[in-house]
Amino acid sequence: NFTPNAFVEEIVAEMKAKIGNDKVVLGLSGGVDSTVAAVLLNKAIGENLYCIFVNNGLLRKNEFENVLNQYKGMGLNVKGVDAGERFLSELAGVSDPETKRKIIGRVFIEVFDDESHLLEDVKWLAQGTIYPDVIESVSVKGPSATIKSHHNVGGLPDFMKLQVVEPLRMLFKDEVRRVGASLGIDPELLGRHPFPGPGLSIRILGDITPEKVRILQEVDSVFIEGLKSWGLYDKVWQAGAILLPVNSVGVMGDERTYEKVVALRAVESTDGMTADWVHLPYDFLMKVSNDIINKVRGVNRVVYDISSKPPATIEWE
Ligand code: XMP
Repeated sequence: NFTPNAFVEEIVAEMKAKIGNDKVVLGLSGGVDSTVAAVLLNKAIGENLYCIFVNNGLLRKNEFENVLNQYKGMGLNVKGVDAGERFLSELAGVSDPETKRKIIGRVFIEVFDDESHLLEDVKWLAQGTIYPDVIESVSVKGPSATIKSHHNVGGLPDFMKLQVVEPLRMLFKDEVRRVGASLGIDPELLGRHPFPGPGLSIRILGDITPEKVRILQEVDSVFIEGLKSWGLYDKVWQAGAILLPVNSVGVMGDERTYEKVVALRAVESTDGMTADWVHLPYDFLMKVSNDIINKVRGVNRVVYDISSKPPATIEWE
């Protein structure tokens, strides 16, 4: 019998007592956990909470601008750092999934460290760690949006030497959502599908180029907007599109085309450990496939992923 209001009251008092007048830095990801953690801390310490939201160039279409504006509208003290070009240039020519993850994790830490250096006298690092993360401790596939502390202490970036504060570390995901709702956070933000820290990089099979990112952002946007307008978004646990490293032959007017293939993925799950593909209506799949091929330059074929986890995984990389 978890009561969100009582939790908020208790944790806000606890954070106030613990942090006092110190400054705190927090990395926002656009996801539910970091957002709820930020709003809680904002309630406890106000302007002494400095949020940093990094664009790694691999977010969904218009996500950086939209979410940044949303954060500002919520009264958060947030700085948006557009590091997209830096990430993409470090990723150029890299095809191996684990190497992509490592590069993104490293560059994120560098960017975050540079930014936290600009702030003076920061004493604390806040994280949106939730209970399942505490148990898992080190993520199987590498660094996620939260910063996992399995690095060697000697070589730590300065911000990681800060004291850590994790207001959500005793909560499960549904409890975090309920706390978020009781704090008045937009239900649309609280209901967002999970999105991996390495973003679209692990949904572009093979090497990453700005053009491929553009194509995938467009495709993903048509798919996600389609799910929303058909009332299917909330029935799906996670959805997204994958850009395959092959071209296929098609025909447009009298012309032969030779363009990219995309796969759509939508799964039902409770925790991401197992997942079933969602039986999306054929009418929806037909409409979304036509929309993608008609609207997104460079794509001439759409397929739907009908594999479940296990033995497949949710992401293709
Ligand atoms: P898989 O592909 O392992 O995905 O079935 C399970 C869940 O984890 C997410 N995922 C990641 N999240 N960093 C993250 O923060 C990662 O490297 C990563 N890889 C997978 C995936 O989106 C799904 O929700």
